[in-house]
Amino acid sequence: MIKGCIFDLDGVIVDTAKYHFTAWRRLGREFGFELTEKQNERLKGVSRMGTLELILDWAGIEKTESEKFEMTERKNVWYRERILEMTESEILEGVMPFLEDLRAKNIPFALGSASKNSIPILNQIGIKDYFVDIIDGNRTTRSKPDPQTFELGAEALNLKPEECIVFEDSQKGIQAALSGGFHAVGIGKQEVLSKAHLVIPNFIGRTFEEIVELL
Ligand code: BG6
Ligand code: MG
Repeated sequence: MIKGCIFDLDGVIVDTAKYHFTAWRRLGREFGFELTEKQNERLKGVSRMGTLELILDWAGIEKTESEKFEMTERKNVWYRERILEMTESEILEGVMPFLEDLRAKNIPFALGSASKNSIPILNQIGIKDYFVDIIDGNRTTRSKPDPQTFELGAEALNLKPEECIVFEDSQKGIQAALSGGFHAVGIGKQEVLSKAHLVIPNFIGRTFEEIVELL
């Protein structure tokens, strides 16, 4: 029986991928690399350092550990400038009614995101206190597709993986949910997230019961 939910943040609750993209592209341009939208798709769900390593690999560039650290810090300064301007108007359409529906039905939910900026983002958009717990990149040691993020989320909800739905927009996140034994709902395009148990374009007009039924 499904009793709780775990939500990814970037791409599920807010569309921060566009801000990550702008900041990474700015960094890439410093060494003559033009990040494409298609490449950006592959960066969804990947940790900050993992992302830089992929970009450096695509650009054919090697950097020392301390240079890489400095680059990720700099990218994060640009990214934070943007996210600290976010308001609740950036919550994706359909998300708030869905969360309110869960709350009204006492269905607990947690956040499960790779982002170390999860708490500032949730504060900006005013929904931090909606979550039983916030499992973010500061609390995990293994990145998606490892299921650790969602396992910690299930623990926080006091539920087993098979009792939770994971909502994810990235292929790596769906892989993580599947390998952990969760119900995986993709938010986005069927062709990108085809491995998920169910794919919906967004939360508009959805209810918990309807999604459970479709699984
Ligand atoms: C994920 C995003 O949620 O968080 C990735 O999909 C991002 O694109 C990762 O790299 C880490 O984010 P942050 O905020 O810690 O740099
Ligand atoms: Mg995401």
